[in-house]
Amino acid sequence: MTNTNHSTERQPTRGVSRRGLLLGAGGVVGGGLVGAAAGYSVASTAAPAAPGDLQQPVDVSPGVANTQVTVSHPYGTDTIAFYGPRQAGVDTPQQAHAIYIGLNLKDDTDADRLSSMMRLLTDDAARLTQGRGALADLDEELAAAPARLTVTFGFGSEVFDRTRPELKPAWLKPLPTYGIDQLDPAYTGGDVVIQIQGDDPLSVAHARRMLLKDARAFATVAWVQSGFTHARASRPDNTTMRNLFGQIDGTGNPEPGSERAERIIWGVGQGDGGGTKNLQPWIDNGTSMVIRRIAMNVDEWDELDRPAQEGVVGRTLGSGAPLTGEHEHDAPDFEALGPSGFPVISDISHIRRARSDDPDEAMFRRSFNYDEQPAASGDTLHGQTGVSQSGLIFVAFQCDVEQQYTPIQDRLAETDHLNLWTIPIGSAVFAVPPGCQPDGYIGEALFA
Ligand code: HEM
Repeated sequence: MTNTNHSTERQPTRGVSRRGLLLGAGGVVGGGLVGAAAGYSVASTAAPAAPGDLQQPVDVSPGVANTQVTVSHPYGTDTIAFYGPRQAGVDTPQQAHAIYIGLNLKDDTDADRLSSMMRLLTDDAARLTQGRGALADLDEELAAAPARLTVTFGFGSEVFDRTRPELKPAWLKPLPTYGIDQLDPAYTGGDVVIQIQGDDPLSVAHARRMLLKDARAFATVAWVQSGFTHARASRPDNTTMRNLFGQIDGTGNPEPGSERAERIIWGVGQGDGGGTKNLQPWIDNGTSMVIRRIAMNVDEWDELDRPAQEGVVGRTLGSGAPLTGEHEHDAPDFEALGPSGFPVISDISHIRRARSDDPDEAMFRRSFNYDEQPAASGDTLHGQTGVSQSGLIFVAFQCDVEQQYTPIQDRLAETDHLNLWTIPIGSAVFAVPPGCQPDGYIGEALFA
């Protein structure tokens, strides 16, 4: 499995110019030609398996779009399909690395220019995620091992204002102001978000550079956040990740592809829990993304003993089981009392406060850790002392922010034992448009 294989496969893309893409204002040149020329598909991207390689397509959520993953060793050539009714990177398998880029549109980026930007960025993303260099990519070798690279776009309110305001969902606005927040403009707001995720930090970094090169004529960078989970292959795929408090984080998520996930993330169907909300996606196969940068005071957390740490969340550190259970996915029993008559899972524990009686008040969390350079000795930054400057890029997808996310955030802001060690320092809300086909581009409905 070598790069030689990849460069042979990239041949058909030659002859498609950046100018050709931009000229396709009506979608004729830009979409049709590029899609046809590139012929993107999962099958065409993975290099032929060398003898002895294990290579097989796996559908992680049968019947759901964008969930076909080609599994092979080495992992570098694994791809996640870019084209499809839904964008990848929402409920497709979580990768090891992520970069989030918030962009602010320039004043002269009107609907036409915005459409050009999205054509360019879509084309870049379609190529890079399938192991091809972007157009005019001088370092296409850096794209050869995409390692499940995905690129997901989200739009802030301003994008709708400049295109089709009537499509703007009512929930697309900043979250309410919370007493626990110490929001830093350096991680807050933004008109467009680009979420780049992959298992190889090199191809993720390359994708970031290529996408920003094409975005810079239309937008400026508002903020960039980089995060990570476990290296792929350090544990079996689909193991729930751990955050930097050592907690297994993501257990309570709906299972991608399940009836419940379809309802919670995409607003499809009635779900299986008798929820009470009138969930309507802002557009078919669209969803919403909330990004909260949350500082975690690891230094003070370390002063708690293990049982105390477990009590704060209501789950054990080892298996992630609820304090009333044995296994990670056991249902917590919030009624169970301990020997002294107090609830085993405290009423102010994080899982008790985050759990709602209404099964529609839920989200799909897809967070990444961050671990930055510690503050200079003696300094305190966002409540963190000199050893660590760590936290979570907390990312949640749900059909409707106001009906699903905000009630939970309200409750946690009011009371959550975890708040003693965490401080939200960044916040942004985006509408995630549907995916597209090779003759289209992400966000096209806003330019119809
Ligand atoms: C640094 C901040 C945070 C940390 C360290 C954290 C950690 C955790 C952990 C360890 C769990 C238990 C395992 C699991 O189900 O994933 C959990 C559950 C959960 N968290 Fe958080 N969390 C944080 C912030 C938030 C925020 C801001 C929200 C939403 C506003 C949230 C919503 C939830 C929900 C909905 C659950 C599942 C509860 C259930 O079992 O039904 N968390 N979190």
